[in-house]
Amino acid sequence: MSSEPSTDAPPLRWGILGTGRISESFVPDIRAAGGVVGAVWGRRTETVEAFAAAHGIPRSTTELDALLGDPGIDIVYVATPPATHLELAARALQAGKHVLVEKPMTTSAVDSARLFEIAAVNDRFVMEAMWMKFNPLHLEVARQVRDGVLGIPRYVRGAFGMPFPSGGSRWRADLGGSTVLDQGIYPVTLAEWLLGPVVLITATGAVRDGVDVAAQITLGHLDGGSSQLACSVLEFLDPSASISGTAGWIEIPAMFWAGGVARVHAGSQGALFGDPIPLLRPREGNGYVPMIRSVAAAVTAGTRENPEHDAAATLSTARVLDNIRQQIFANAEQ
Ligand SMILES: NC(=O)c1ccc[n+]([C@@H]2O[C@H](COP(=O)([O-])OP(=O)(O)OC[C@H]3O[C@@H](n4cnc5c(N)ncnc54)[C@H](OP(=O)(O)O)[C@@H]3O)[C@@H](O)[C@H]2O)c1
Repeated sequence: MSSEPSTDAPPLRWGILGTGRISESFVPDIRAAGGVVGAVWGRRTETVEAFAAAHGIPRSTTELDALLGDPGIDIVYVATPPATHLELAARALQAGKHVLVEKPMTTSAVDSARLFEIAAVNDRFVMEAMWMKFNPLHLEVARQVRDGVLGIPRYVRGAFGMPFPSGGSRWRADLGGSTVLDQGIYPVTLAEWLLGPVVLITATGAVRDGVDVAAQITLGHLDGGSSQLACSVLEFLDPSASISGTAGWIEIPAMFWAGGVARVHAGSQGALFGDPIPLLRPREGNGYVPMIRSVAAAVTAGTRENPEHDAAATLSTARVLDNIRQQIFANAEQ
């Protein structure tokens, strides 16, 4: 499927739920991708009005039903803490809106499956905003792996660790705080994407106040590959990644999930050991533009899932994340 919406299709009209930092970054990218931002919802009048004024959004409200009943909105972007995603996205789908939900789609595979069912019943599009899978750099890395540039792919390494300040939603169990769901989702998605289905999961980690705050993960993949992954909100963990195979490897430096540069160590002795081949695919806008364009193309085409990140891929990763968290909670000193 083309990632470009048909040029004669009217632009998709977006409603934004939540006025946090990610919404700040997302709104300009909606416009850069050719979309219209028609309305924003937030819980407090002052905050939502300030957000609308700062971003030139014509309508703002603290009444969710007002945004969901707005005939001038086609698709809703859910950018609130993870524990709120299921209810907000379900209400939007039931109100007849298409939905793009921030990662993680919900806090469990069962809840995410439920959301896909609700979308199907209401004949609406829904997708988890896993923007890494739409980044031109990552698409090129995936293409090279598929085309055998690295020989047989065998191993993925990746980490996302940063000391996020305590007190925010990432540290609150009631809001779905979880380093595995929030940060770990990127290396796990990368590993599954590049090495295929996961058949073995070993995880250890740390839990504070009912929230998993650090994880060290080993995955075994169906075709015999393996991954070593980690995430944390306690400390920095070198936020780079690499994929290795029988004929070489590709490094994706920090921040690997958002990067525009990689280095291919394959194809010649020089590239392997001296001068790797640079891959340069600069980010567009804040990095969300290619995903937003792809969502617009899918919705405009009448598709109910995006083949680039469909229900099967979302739920497969969600089940791996569930299992990792279960192991951490079972073994961690709380
Ligand atoms: N794709 C990316 O690059 C990226 C980056 C960061 C985060 N994220 C994801 O985006 C989502 C939001 O993360 P965040 O760090 O922005 O979260 P956050 O700052 O804690 O919350 C975002 C917004 O959600 C609203 N909100 C807070 N608590 C709420 C509640 N109990 N019920 C309903 N709304 C609530 C608030 O807006 P109002 O005050 O207007 O209600 C808040 O500004 C998460 O799923 C996270 O994983 C994605």
